[in-house]
Amino acid sequence: MTSGRLRKVVFPVAGLGTRFLPATKVVAKEMLPVLDRPLIQYAVDEAVDAGADTLIFVTNRYKHAIADYFDKAYELESKLAKSGKNDLLALVQGTLPKHVRCVFVTQPEALGLGHAVLCAKPVVGDEPFGVILADDLIWNGNPGSGRPGALRQMSEVAARESAGVLAVEEVPREDTRKYGIVDSEAISERVARIRKMVEKPEPDVAPSNLAIVGRYVLPSDIFSLLEQTSPGAGGEIQLTDAIEALLQKQSVLAYRVEGTRFDCGNKLGLVKATLHMALQDPQIGQETLKLLRSLEQ
Ligand code: UTP
Repeated sequence: MTSGRLRKVVFPVAGLGTRFLPATKVVAKEMLPVLDRPLIQYAVDEAVDAGADTLIFVTNRYKHAIADYFDKAYELESKLAKSGKNDLLALVQGTLPKHVRCVFVTQPEALGLGHAVLCAKPVVGDEPFGVILADDLIWNGNPGSGRPGALRQMSEVAARESAGVLAVEEVPREDTRKYGIVDSEAISERVARIRKMVEKPEPDVAPSNLAIVGRYVLPSDIFSLLEQTSPGAGGEIQLTDAIEALLQKQSVLAYRVEGTRFDCGNKLGLVKATLHMALQDPQIGQETLKLLRSLEQ
């Protein structure tokens, strides 16, 4: 990679989302809102901030809401235009910048994150690309705030070091069994070279407390490795298994992202993210604070 710009970003959104059933029976969990924006909007804004112009959604045949969300909403838009509600019209039309295109790829069966990423191969082709798991919301202020989003930070490191980059975060020791954990050697304050990765280790055997979270910058070499990866835990093709194989061939870095991560794949994480955004909201921030204080008593 020579420039820090990532043109293509993959959004795997074909998981079953069982932790949010029954809501996720018909909508992907990435459509769940944090305040007034679905999770996928935060993720798309982050990808665009990193320079993406091609967004690849790996979806399944049951959940059409994401495609509809980024499509033109003719009836709604014409009603808002006729009634002069220009602010709302701008919101509806602003889900995607004009220069950005969406490509939808189907994952026929939920065979795991690795398999979902592999489904994007024909669209990604032969260039480095980003992967965002939208249920991990990483917030470093609005993209307009001047602070780079997580993926932009990572793509700059990937370009500078000509390496794959995985986002990591320090987690409490007792939580290592929920994550892929890296064994790494620090290069700088935020960057470390990965020696190996251990999937969901018990706290007493975990090589560190640096957990892999939902952002990846990967070279296209990962696709052939995914093709050779046999199903692992739960019969799923694991992305971390292919990255483990990539490590044998080239350097892969762990990057401690600047920003706050909310694990919105579970209920408490979604509530935390919602409260965080509500407290920052100019219209309801004060009232939300009052509400929280009243609950304390
Ligand atoms: P998760 O491990 O969070 O699984 O997937 P899940 O099915 O979405 O949710 P739960 O655990 O049942 O509640 C991590 C990411 O990988 C995607 C998901 O959409 C999510 O963004 N994924 C997972 C796929 O696209 N396809 C798969 O086969 C599995």
